[in-house]
Amino acid sequence: MDKDLSPRPLQRMFMEVPPSYDIINRLLTFRMDQVWRSGLVSALLDGSYGGGKDRRRILDLCTGTGDLAIRLRKRSNEGDAIFALDFSRPMLEIARGKAVSKGFTDIEFIHGDASDMPFKESSFDAVGIAFALRNLTYKNPLRDLFLSEVARVLKPGGRFIAVETCQPDNMLMRRAFHFYMKYYTAPVGSLLSGHPGAYRYLAYSARNYYEPWQLKEILLSAGFSRVNYRLLFKGVAARWECIL
Ligand SMILES: C[S@@+](CC[C@H](N)C(=O)[O-])C[C@H]1O[C@@H](n2cnc3c(N)ncnc32)[C@H](O)[C@@H]1O
Repeated sequence: MDKDLSPRPLQRMFMEVPPSYDIINRLLTFRMDQVWRSGLVSALLDGSYGGGKDRRRILDLCTGTGDLAIRLRKRSNEGDAIFALDFSRPMLEIARGKAVSKGFTDIEFIHGDASDMPFKESSFDAVGIAFALRNLTYKNPLRDLFLSEVARVLKPGGRFIAVETCQPDNMLMRRAFHFYMKYYTAPVGSLLSGHPGAYRYLAYSARNYYEPWQLKEILLSAGFSRVNYRLLFKGVAARWECIL
């Protein structure tokens, strides 16, 4: 499953993962990232799709330090199979270590690129992604390839569910969110991590990310038959549910 990957845009940034990555996330989001991940897990496990509730195969795409995969493992049925893919080996190392320390030894962590996943067609009942859809879609020349790969590895009727930052409708809220990204997230993340580039990128891409209607069109044109979203915390983030 594992193979050497040539460098991709953004890859170097995620190679330099600080050991404090998780703590910084909690601090920057006041733990809302965990609340939103938990909602994502419920949505991924909800409903009987892909041929029944048992023995589902679910992928955590761009798993990072593995929080979504571990939560999925904790709340899914024993027969379900949980996979987690990322192109950063340091991230995957942290993820594996965390899973094992919590007693979850059967999550399959895979080093791979989202543009060329080492899975056959129709491999998964659901694919989830937490806070990485922006990385795959914002000014990323491989955007359409990433989305067609997700569609390829999903079973017919399978679901792609994402939680990602969004643009609040309300102008006051939007200004406050952009201010917070620029003057809190970027400097505090840079200071605590020692990697200013990564947190400047996070703040910049979040402030300039698509409007929900734009992302909806992108997802529909990737081949999903139904795309819905639900705003979280007044639109600071959104949960996307796409059915193939
Ligand atoms: C902002 S982190 C989010 C990590 C995790 N999902 C979470 O909830 O914290 C983005 C992750 O996406 C991974 N990533 C970005 N582009 C990728 C690609 N093309 N293929 C595989 N992983 C990728 C990075 O290595 C990083 O771990």
